[in-house]
This record gives sequence, C-alpha cells and structure tokens, in this order.
Amino acid sequence: MSTSLLNLITFPTVVGTNGSLTPIQSGRKDSELPFIVKRTLVIRGMKAGDERGGHTHHKTRQVLIALSGGCTVELDNGKEKTSVALSRPDQGLVLEPYVWHAMKDFKPSTILLLLADTEYDEKDYIRDYAEFKKFVK
Ligand code: TYD
Repeated sequence: MSTSLLNLITFPTVVGTNGSLTPIQSGRKDSELPFIVKRTLVIRGMKAGDERGGHTHHKTRQVLIALSGGCTVELDNGKEKTSVALSRPDQGLVLEPYVWHAMKDFKPSTILLLLADTEYDEKDYIRDYAEFKKFVK
C-alpha cells in the first residue's frame, strides 16, 4: 500500500492523575501536523447510517481526528483503495489532495475535528467521482 494513501499521525499524550492532554501542533515531526491550520471544523450529529465526505480537493490538505466516538474512513487515490477505523483523539488521518474520502459507520455521539490548511472554497472541491478519476489517471 502506498504510504501517501494511509498516513496516520499519533499525537503525544501527557497523562496525569487528573486526566490527559494531547497537544496538536504544526511542525516537522511525525507526531505533528504537516501544515499550518487555517480552518477548523467540528462535525457532529451523525447517525450510524449517515455518510459524509464523498469528495476530494485540488489543493486543501486536511487532518481528521475522532475526538469521541469514531467512524470508518474510506480512501481512494484512483489507483488503490483502503479504509481505516478512526476512534482515537490522539490519532489524525492525513487527507491529501486528490485522495477521495468518505466517512461512514458512525458510532453514537461521534465528534470529528477536521483541520485544514486553506480557507473554505467550493471551487477547490471535486464532488463528482468520474471527474476525480480524470485527474488521477
Ligand atoms: P462538506 O464539505 O460537503 O461536508 P462533509 O465532507 O463533512 O460531508 O460541507 C457540507 C456543507 O458545509 C456544504 O454546504 C458547505 C459547507 N461548508 C462551509 O460552509 N464551510 C466549510 O469550511 C466546509 C468544509 C463546508
């Protein structure tokens, strides 16, 4: 499997007797975000059978974190597909441009945090799978 398709970051966690703290910061280390965050999305309220995503981007890089609950994320770079279960607040899935992604199988009370390196721009989206396939052939 190509490493660019499945890239999971494990953030460090400082565990105390009074709870734990996970810093999520940008930097060059494997345990840091590979970009400066411009936009933060909180995604919640999904039912088990819902599906989100189902698109990719021309430029935007993102990291997806399951702060609570969890889901399955399907990834497709046009050549290979994989899926990953996301359920840990100290783990971030890197979503690179031209990787089609879809989130499904939501656990109850799932809260996702999505960090992105761009401002929102609908023109940066590819929402049509056939159009995506033209870009990755
Ligand atoms: P979308 O990116 O399709 O959500 P998901 O990938 O989770 O299924 O966006 C859903 C709606 O929210 C869409 O109408 C556009 C809007 N939106 C914003 O207003 N700002 C944003 O930063 C994003 C990502 C979406």
